[in-house]
Amino acid sequence: MTQLNEKSPVITGGATGTGPAATQQGKDAPTAVLIGVTGGLGHALARLLAAEGFRLVLAARREYDAAALTGRNDGSAIYQSADVTDPASLEKLASAAFEHLGRIDAVVNLAGISPRKPIEDYPTADVDALMAVNVKGPIFVTQAFLPGLRKQAGGGVIVHLGGAMDGRVALPFMSAYAATRGALASYVQGANRELAGTNVVLSFFGPVPSNTESESPYFDMWRKMGVALCEPNVVAREILATIRKRRQAHVMGGGLLKMLTLANAVSPSIADAIGLRKFGKLIKQHSPR
Ligand SMILES: NC(=O)c1ccc[n+]([C@@H]2O[C@H](COP(=O)([O-])OP(=O)(O)OC[C@H]3O[C@@H](n4cnc5c(N)ncnc54)[C@H](OP(=O)(O)O)[C@@H]3O)[C@@H](O)[C@H]2O)c1
Repeated sequence: MTQLNEKSPVITGGATGTGPAATQQGKDAPTAVLIGVTGGLGHALARLLAAEGFRLVLAARREYDAAALTGRNDGSAIYQSADVTDPASLEKLASAAFEHLGRIDAVVNLAGISPRKPIEDYPTADVDALMAVNVKGPIFVTQAFLPGLRKQAGGGVIVHLGGAMDGRVALPFMSAYAATRGALASYVQGANRELAGTNVVLSFFGPVPSNTESESPYFDMWRKMGVALCEPNVVAREILATIRKRRQAHVMGGGLLKMLTLANAVSPSIADAIGLRKFGKLIKQHSPR
């Protein structure tokens, strides 16, 4: 495991890789910063972007080895620990990343937590952590990287991962969690209106429920709802498409989640009638008191 000193980033070694990353190490290679990269989706995204020739700065709270995350020891990635609840650590990360990469095409913030409980059972500690990581985190990440992205030619994109739908669809038995995803959707919308006319875009990315360790307690629930689980490498490809297209919002969904998202945007009572009320009963079974 390697932790970087912000003044002198260290390129970590480990696994060996071949392919575009091995040959596009010059100034023209695309670049990205991935925060919350040690989880199931982050790991898949690090591997994909490294294989696509990106130079990367990777981060999460724990210490980790860049090569273990990308599967390459070709110098395509460095790792620095950072905490999205701590603006000072994000400032250090941003400054190390701009120094190491020169320019940053994309920042992807995958840091997030999702405790799911009945309304009365959310302990204060969970509520505080949800607000700190899922709401303040994206705000602090944006504030840390925005000045540098504004200055560089061509701007850049900051992708924040939200929940499985568009942030406005709030499922029962996860109300405090749902509140944080709604807050993120509003933050991204407001920031994009403010950034209109610049080359910087924020993106709200809603991954479909995926085959990751953190989601595993809910696999049975999703199956009973008829929502198919997605492999993390498929989600990673959609995040890459979102970076390339600079989408302001992208909800992966499957047919069912997309339909509920659309219905809920038109009228929450229509969404209730076509499925969300039924979902509530299933979710309750997976949220014992
Ligand atoms: N997997 C799914 O099915 C699914 C579906 C919808 C939405 N999402 C969302 O997508 C994101 C990624 O999902 P995932 O499955 O990869 O989650 P995960 O496996 O739980 O990974 C979360 C990542 O966030 C990091 N993190 C947590 N708190 C942090 C903090 N304060 N500062 C910096 N990093 C922090 C964790 O590393 P450290 O502990 O080392 O900091 C880890 O790298 C999450 O926001 C999740 O809620 C996932």
